[in-house]
Amino acid sequence: MKNSDLYAVITCTNNKGGIGKTASSVNLSVTLGALGAKVLFIDGDPQGNGTKAMGVRDKFNPATQTLWHAFRNKLSYKDVRVASSYKNVDVIAASTDLEDATDVFSSSPRRLKLFKQLLQGAEQDYNYVFIDTPPAKGGVLTPAALSAADYYIIPSFADSDSYDGFVKIVSVCEEIKDAENEKLTCLGVLITCLKKNPASQAYLDYVTTLLKSANLPVFPHFIAQSDSMDSARLLGKPAVTLPNAAALKDGYLANAKFIVSQIKESKAGRPKKGPDLEKLGLIKNSSPLDEMVIKETKKLNMEF
Ligand SMILES: Nc1ncnc2c1ncn2[C@@H]1O[C@H](COP(=O)(O)OP(=O)(O)OP(=O)(O)O)[C@@H](O)[C@H]1O
Ligand SMILES: [Mg+2]
Repeated sequence: MKNSDLYAVITCTNNKGGIGKTASSVNLSVTLGALGAKVLFIDGDPQGNGTKAMGVRDKFNPATQTLWHAFRNKLSYKDVRVASSYKNVDVIAASTDLEDATDVFSSSPRRLKLFKQLLQGAEQDYNYVFIDTPPAKGGVLTPAALSAADYYIIPSFADSDSYDGFVKIVSVCEEIKDAENEKLTCLGVLITCLKKNPASQAYLDYVTTLLKSANLPVFPHFIAQSDSMDSARLLGKPAVTLPNAAALKDGYLANAKFIVSQIKESKAGRPKKGPDLEKLGLIKNSSPLDEMVIKETKKLNMEF
């Protein structure tokens, strides 16, 4: 039984690979489940990293209980979900054949409706649906996941290479919003692996101010780099469920609570202005971030 009327579909996306999309969607799902919310985690990436991280690799029938199978056969989430070992969290697993989705559906009128059809009625069972997406443009998968979403989160590392990615992914999301899904709202950039060094801190201070000035919020709680993430990958478990991962647990808990408060606020009818793409682009073109990092780091007396 779900515990309130709250229902939100949240897509984690960024064109850039390896910046914490899966870590964010998996750990936020498990954290919200532990807080009492009913959560469905959908692995929308043929790599299947989220499926592994959720520990369900041996719990689904690869012939009948995958996202691909649901898309191919127009099935409901109810037909393909499996229960995870984590409180209140169900999973729809990905298999490598999900790679075929782009070829099979690229000219189909269903292509942007794939997740929407899958999730019909899901508000009766869940408070939150998290969709993990593939890197790069994601073929039909990322646009379809954004078309079904109420909100999107942009996970990112804190490095200057990430900045170009924000402009790209926000453009894609805002296009989907204009063409297909007017409710799509940006929850913000989530820093997923903050290193303890002055260059990362300096970049973060600088870029946070810039992004905010372009109405692209940055989650106030940064997730610190942690060795527990490596252990979690090895064990096929969400990092927040490991002993000795207190800092990660606290970080994801703070962010989960932030998400709940942002969603409640937005559902209460206080819409915020969306990201200002022109300003984001201007910032990108006029602010040499690498120079900034060097300048800021010199201020902090770092050696090069
Ligand atoms: N806080 C952290 N501390 C240490 N390592 C981290 C942290 N967050 C993520 N990582 C590591 O960074 C790598 C990329 O993370 P993740 O797989 O979540 O990114 P992704 O964006 O989903 O990647 P892909 O684009 O391949 O799907 C992984 O090896 C993960 O364990
Ligand atoms: Mg991933």
